[in-house]
Amino acid sequence: MLYNKFLNVKTSPWIIALDISGYILFVCLLISLTIHYIMHTGYLKPLAEIGQAARKVAEGDFTVRIHGKRKDGLKDELEVFIEDFNKMVEELATIESLKEDFIANISHEIKTPLAVIQSYATLLRKEGISKEEKENYIQTVLEASSKLSDLVSNVLRLTKLENQEIIQKSSYSLAEQLRLCILSLDEKFEEKNIELEIDIDEVMIVSDASLLDIVWNNLLTNAIKFTEPGGRIKVLLHQENETAIVTIADTGCGIDDNICKRIFDRFYQGDTSHLVEGYGLGLSLVKRVIDLVGGRILVTSENGKGSTFTVRLNN
Ligand SMILES: Nc1ncnc2c1ncn2[C@@H]1O[C@H](COP(=O)(O)OP(=O)(O)OP(=O)(O)O)[C@@H](O)[C@H]1O
Ligand SMILES: [Mg+2]
Repeated sequence: MLYNKFLNVKTSPWIIALDISGYILFVCLLISLTIHYIMHTGYLKPLAEIGQAARKVAEGDFTVRIHGKRKDGLKDELEVFIEDFNKMVEELATIESLKEDFIANISHEIKTPLAVIQSYATLLRKEGISKEEKENYIQTVLEASSKLSDLVSNVLRLTKLENQEIIQKSSYSLAEQLRLCILSLDEKFEEKNIELEIDIDEVMIVSDASLLDIVWNNLLTNAIKFTEPGGRIKVLLHQENETAIVTIADTGCGIDDNICKRIFDRFYQGDTSHLVEGYGLGLSLVKRVIDLVGGRILVTSENGKGSTFTVRLNN
């Protein structure tokens, strides 16, 4: 059109209209090609990549990660989505490895007492063993099967608690519950000649008594287990405003800082010298219960001097 004007050529209005339409068509084509290019490189390609990564995750590959698309470091919706996707895969990988570790740990722990039972049962079949030997073998088999039974019931309890969200609250005397728990462990205290200091206020709470039983039992059993004979254990209960505070302190071996970070992990046991007893499930149960009842647990410890576990429960 401009060209015609420039040459001063007389053109019919039809030609001009045709020129304009051609021009508009050309611009539209350019715009749609640009949009298509932006959509393809900016969204469709990354979306296809995400879809492919999601399929890999569904097949059990948790190593896939998607790289960010923007070079300028800015975050649009797609970048946020990619970031969330990567985070989700990371979480899934952690859950999967925890599950695998858990199964591996259980299998290992089950194998040990089973092997003991098998070998001692074989020994029992031998002819000519004395009555005393027989008694010893039977005792070992009984101890191993009781260990196995403890392991199975603790694993079942933990699995049940991990799937539980609802608790059965009632108002009861926390003081009475602590006293009863201490009484039930009387024999163990005496066996190790442990001095017990009790300072318990009459505190009532509204919570799940059967769940909190697990907490006191495990914390006290640990305190006894990790305290040398002749040591001291303190059990305190006080109330601060609406919060009941239970403190269980011992003069035992204490917990190293590195170990302290992991004591609530399933199957984690700190000191190898104590590996013979327990499975490292007690404090995982404690932590789960405390989370369920909405409380808090705090540990302070000094290597070689003792540990203090403080539980705070809000009414
Ligand atoms: N009072 C304590 N003093 C010193 N170390 C402790 C104390 N309580 C817990 N620990 C450390 O934390 C680890 C984990 O405790 P947890 O109660 O979960 O397992 P456990 O007592 O070894 O076994 P389980 O409770 O299954 O019988 C222990 O192995 C120990 O190293
Ligand atoms: Mg324990």
